[in-house]
Amino acid sequence: MTTSVKNEFSVSVLLVIVWLAVVGLIYLFVLSMAKDGFGKNMERVNQQVEAGLQARIKPVMTLEDITAGSSASANTAPVMVITSASASKSADQLYAGACLACHDTGAAGAPKLGDSAAWQSRAAMGVNALVATVVSGKGAMPPNGGSAYSEMELRSVVEYMLNQAGL
Ligand code: HEC
Repeated sequence: MTTSVKNEFSVSVLLVIVWLAVVGLIYLFVLSMAKDGFGKNMERVNQQVEAGLQARIKPVMTLEDITAGSSASANTAPVMVITSASASKSADQLYAGACLACHDTGAAGAPKLGDSAAWQSRAAMGVNALVATVVSGKGAMPPNGGSAYSEMELRSVVEYMLNQAGL
């Protein structure tokens, strides 16, 4: 081999090595970029999953909420008690909530509120029987008068209706 050929050979070997190095670096660079982006995405997804989970397992109310709520409202309103909302309603409110629509208008032959003639014969059956009739429904009146009232509540409304008829 002549010296010039040897030189030419080592130059091309060097070029190949440099080329490989550059390609390798670019490859590593792209790889690290991709990995970075992927990592960030995963982080975001994890955060979302975590946030969703926290929201779902969050207690509806904590002891702090309850104590804070009661002390905050202590001067203004009583702490809400956990009972059915209608339990504290008076008979006339219950009446207005579910019975008024028919019994104020006399719709479908409903005995009207305060119509003593219409209630006279019914009152004779006694409150118990009337409550039982309301519970099971009668004629155009659906069971429970179409309400979700308890029998106790229905009784108070029936008594209210009889009172209004002067009975
Ligand atoms: C959809 C209309 C309607 C609603 C709502 C309704 N009623 Fe009536 N109610 C009637 C009709 C109609 C009658 C008469 C039924 C008959 O005599 O055939 C009646 C009859 C009654 C009677 C007399 C029952 C008897 O033996 O004759 C009572 C008591 C009564 N209703 C109570 C209530 C109460 C309490 C509510 C509310 C919780 C209520 N009603 C809601 C239509 C209604």
